[in-house]
Amino acid sequence: MTTRSLLRDAAERAATYLESLPDRSVAPTAEAVAALSQFDHFLPEHPQNPAEVLATLDELGSPGTGASAGGRYFGFVIGATLPAALAANMLATAWDQNCALVVISPTTAKLESIALRWLLDVLHLPPTSAAGFVTGATMANFTCLAAARHALLQRAGWDAEAQGLFGAPPLDVIVGDEVHVTALKALAMLGLGRARVTRVPVDSQGRLRADSLPALTDRTILCLQAGNVNTGAIDPLAEIIPRARAAGAWVHVDGAFGLWAAAAPARAALVAGIENADSWAIDAHKWLNVPYDSGVAIVRDKDALRGATAVSAAYLVQGAEREPSEYTPELSRRARGVDVWAAMSALGRSGIAEMIERNCRQAARFATGLRDAGYEILADVVLNQVLVSFGDDETTRRVIAGIQTDGTCWCGGTVWQGRTAMRISVSSWATTNEDVELSLAAMLRVASEIHALR
Ligand SMILES: Cc1ncc(COP(=O)(O)O)c(C=O)c1O
Repeated sequence: MTTRSLLRDAAERAATYLESLPDRSVAPTAEAVAALSQFDHFLPEHPQNPAEVLATLDELGSPGTGASAGGRYFGFVIGATLPAALAANMLATAWDQNCALVVISPTTAKLESIALRWLLDVLHLPPTSAAGFVTGATMANFTCLAAARHALLQRAGWDAEAQGLFGAPPLDVIVGDEVHVTALKALAMLGLGRARVTRVPVDSQGRLRADSLPALTDRTILCLQAGNVNTGAIDPLAEIIPRARAAGAWVHVDGAFGLWAAAAPARAALVAGIENADSWAIDAHKWLNVPYDSGVAIVRDKDALRGATAVSAAYLVQGAEREPSEYTPELSRRARGVDVWAAMSALGRSGIAEMIERNCRQAARFATGLRDAGYEILADVVLNQVLVSFGDDETTRRVIAGIQTDGTCWCGGTVWQGRTAMRISVSSWATTNEDVELSLAAMLRVASEIHALR
């Protein structure tokens, strides 16, 4: 088989897979998962026909996937992939560019610079900010907090990158009690410690309480959040950020999905004041609906980001333009900026706003439909997240399991302020209003069946 026919076969199979999603169970069936054991064989001693490798991958692998690329997957916070971004990703994978340096890949370096400019524009962040294209919000948090560590310690006369942290002046880190675990993981990996942070109480929605903030200094890193992973709630940014900056603290905002509210005029007020922070973590694989893995670490002070991440060596050519690897922990990496550029090109400013707004309206529709049926919505629906209780914790757990098995849609569970809840996250370009109605009907059907049994 020629490379051309192999790639055609892959593209055909990919299209067939995507077309099958509306008619298949969103969760893979037990049989499909059991069939994955057929992958468990020894490394082939001899070369295999690539067409057969691909066929096996599709025939065994495709049915064992969760249908998160379709319109009825509401678990975690998971975007699908816009066709333009998927197609661009396929082509860019064929290019196989190492995106570290302009000299290796002028095209991807150019597109990354443009994607960054567009992101800052659509998110209303300072246009001179620097950024790195990373794997996701975890690494975006890590990269932004590395920049914070660099800047605050440099101000205190300490070179963190050269000297490490042993003997360094201490930095205080303040987080809300509902901080995402990955921000804590980033702090742990940076030697700032996940247990030595000061945790500030939150309100009933999960927002950090401004009246409980401890004293802030120029040795403080304050981690705020735009988009609580359960409720979508946004910390009181406009109230807190000016105070923190006046004290000389570094303000980092984890806006993995919530920062996208800035791109939708009707939601932008929710994140008013966010542009005054020092750094922002955002995911593109969530609400921008590009393929995994894709996040962006954005930092107001270019020197702080470069100070934390740039390295040089005689063989690493540095030109006059932005060298991508100077802004990320990685050297070699894939062309994430291409997918972002393609998604933003295809949607345009109005398409991005429409997608965000539509998903928010769809979340509100879920909440209304469930509340009208007598179920309790546990937090205000401000963005794309809904938390619902179907009764006591055990009943809610059973309903969640029933919905997953039913297969019309997929939702996960959580515990919100002591109560078991089902999470609905509407983050996909592919979710139609019909998908919402179908899914809502399935949720209500399963819930009433479980209630009838109890
Ligand atoms: C607020 C927040 N921060 C960070 C993350 C981690 O993102 P990723 O899985 O892309 O690293 C998430 C994931 O849901 C999130 O919601």
